[in-house]
Amino acid sequence: AAKPDPAITEVQDWSRFLGEGVAAHPYGKPSKYEAHVVKRDVEWLTAGRESSVNFTPLHELDGIITPNGLCFERHHGGIAEVDPAKHRLMINGLVDRQLVFTMDDIKRMPRTNRIYFLECAANSGMEWRGAQLNGCQFTHGMIHNVMYTGVPLRLLLEEAGLKTNAKWIMVEGGDAAGMNRSIPIEKALDDCLIAFKMNGEALRAEQGYPLRIVVPGWEGNMWVKWLRRIEVGDQPWHAREETSKYTDLLADGRSRRFTFVMDAKSVVTNPSPQAPLKFKGPNVLTGMAWSGRGTITRVDVTLDGGRNWRTARLDGPVLPRSVARFYVDFDWQGEELMIQSRAMDDTGYVQPTKAELRAVRGLNSIYHNNGIQTWLVRANGETENVEIS
Ligand code: MTE
Ligand code: CO
Repeated sequence: AAKPDPAITEVQDWSRFLGEGVAAHPYGKPSKYEAHVVKRDVEWLTAGRESSVNFTPLHELDGIITPNGLCFERHHGGIAEVDPAKHRLMINGLVDRQLVFTMDDIKRMPRTNRIYFLECAANSGMEWRGAQLNGCQFTHGMIHNVMYTGVPLRLLLEEAGLKTNAKWIMVEGGDAAGMNRSIPIEKALDDCLIAFKMNGEALRAEQGYPLRIVVPGWEGNMWVKWLRRIEVGDQPWHAREETSKYTDLLADGRSRRFTFVMDAKSVVTNPSPQAPLKFKGPNVLTGMAWSGRGTITRVDVTLDGGRNWRTARLDGPVLPRSVARFYVDFDWQGEELMIQSRAMDDTGYVQPTKAELRAVRGLNSIYHNNGIQTWLVRANGETENVEIS
């Protein structure tokens, strides 16, 4: 800092005048100096306002929780503004008793709190054929990590009574898209939640207010928002979103079927193209790792394009099917860096390179790109999305 430092010697307005009182903002908001921390979209990706997607500013966040106002959104029919008093959840199909729940009914059932990531299967999809978007917000920002309050789906299904041939459920949204997906009954009875709160407060309209299904570790598309109906059946429905969409076309013309689980993945969020290195000397490298199969056990980081790896420090809660936060505290002397991170989970799964993924899956994919990301840091600190061939 300059000497004398005007930040010390000049009396600032906020020290001279009274500030606003508590009534100014009955619902709090971030400091005006944080106005750049927002969800952003990619113009050429967002054809219309209705079928649209935006991205979480991962490079501005820390810890493991995504604040509600910064959770990315993906809508197939725009944001439904559902009146909770008029919202109903119906359970029908292969059950002993067809049931209809009001929001009040659901809030009188035993509830639980769990932290889970939601990742759109299309996250990093634009990167299948090569490095494309400059910023982890755009390459990896179709993910959020939230604490949900909700009722275990198992309790609702038990109340309805499952017929012996009940093998699948179909979950359906109340939005204009009426989005629907099939979920195997084992998953429905295992850890799915019917959630009405996120990070302690009511779901945001963008996230499916007043009710959404939480499908831990599985692709975001299955987490139907504005949930209005669950039909129980003996086979999958083969809805649009699980046939023409959210399947991966292989090199031989066949498609992978029902790729529900999100495999282990990680990304360095700082430094990254929107968050270049500014100072020589001590620096904090940080990022996030997650696995739909279980718990992150280890993240390795390289600064030199894979020649040398070091094990990052996991910090904060490390929970199954949740984002975990990692750090590498390092010294930078202005040399060029090729930064990568590689996640491992408690099933022994190791995050693959993009070359390894393409060798198995070919070049026709969009969904389920969990390949290792590379950031090139130049001598002036500017950072770019690149691939090492
Ligand atoms: N549910 C309904 N009813 N309508 C939708 O358009 N989009 C799906 C899923 N559930 C969608 C939906 C997709 S593709 C994703 S990735 C997630 O919701 C996004 O959840 P979010 O908007 O909370 O990020
Ligand atoms: Co999606």
